Amino acid sequence: MIRELNTQFGIKGHLEFVEDASGLILAKISNDQGSASLCLQGAHLMSWQPRSQKVPVVWLSKDAKLAVGKSIRGGAPVCWPWFGAHATESAFPGHGFARTVPWRVIEAGQDVGGETRLALRLVASDKTREQWPHACNLDLNVVVGETLRMELITENTGSSDFVIGEALHTYFQIGDIGAVSVGGLEGCAYWDKVGGSSLKKQEGEIRFSGETDRVYIDTSAECVIRDEKLKRRIHIAKSGSHSTVVWTPWIEKANKMGDMGQPDGWREMLCVESANALENQVKVAAGNRHTLIVEYHAAPL
Ligand code: BG6
Repeated sequence: MIRELNTQFGIKGHLEFVEDASGLILAKISNDQGSASLCLQGAHLMSWQPRSQKVPVVWLSKDAKLAVGKSIRGGAPVCWPWFGAHATESAFPGHGFARTVPWRVIEAGQDVGGETRLALRLVASDKTREQWPHACNLDLNVVVGETLRMELITENTGSSDFVIGEALHTYFQIGDIGAVSVGGLEGCAYWDKVGGSSLKKQEGEIRFSGETDRVYIDTSAECVIRDEKLKRRIHIAKSGSHSTVVWTPWIEKANKMGDMGQPDGWREMLCVESANALENQVKVAAGNRHTLIVEYHAAPL
């Protein structure tokens, strides 16, 4: 399998497939602009570090476990075809099944500008069809360079419409949760999921002093994480996404989760997720496709 993958898609010096001790396959990418790794299970981007940065821009928990059928803590989980809990089936997995099932490589290449491309497609099975009985393709195209670009493409190949919820649930590496702010969502309405669910309005930039779990709705704005400790900004631009989720678990929840990186890994991550959730779920008409795109880059403060 590894040999075939490397023969068909490997790019000498830039893209190599390796098998982890868990048996899962990782794509390791490296070029003059940056490096990244992805797990084929879940099409899960696990790390990304542009050459200009001393520390990664995408955070991976030091307690992250790689295991068949389990989601990885950190990176950029693909939440699809629903976001959060399933609307009616409590036994279905939170954030959908896309992040825990196998995907296959459909294309890889090296761009003239020096970026490395990798395209993956979710492998449908009886198990996925039980939870999602619709004819469709789900692809993730990743371009790794000084900028990271990810495109999540849902193609409805059937004869009836369907509705999806989705997110690229990216964990960003920060210096300390007490020394960052998020700009771009000023004036936006959000569902505050901490302590029930109520609709509020964002006043000014976001700062953090406790558990924060918010779904900002009707926004396609670029967000900027300003990090006073690492002295950098992370820019999060997007299209085809009308919700932005901002999440930090804070100490109590992080301790319960058990894989956030003891003792205080949670302080060094912040999720800013480009999503289509709640009232922003997307109808994909028969024969049509919908694309959610994100682009991240880091710059000095
Ligand atoms: C966020 C949700 O997107 O993901 C949170 O808003 C949730 O409510 C978090 O706790 C992590 O989810 P999970 O399933 O990866 O533990």
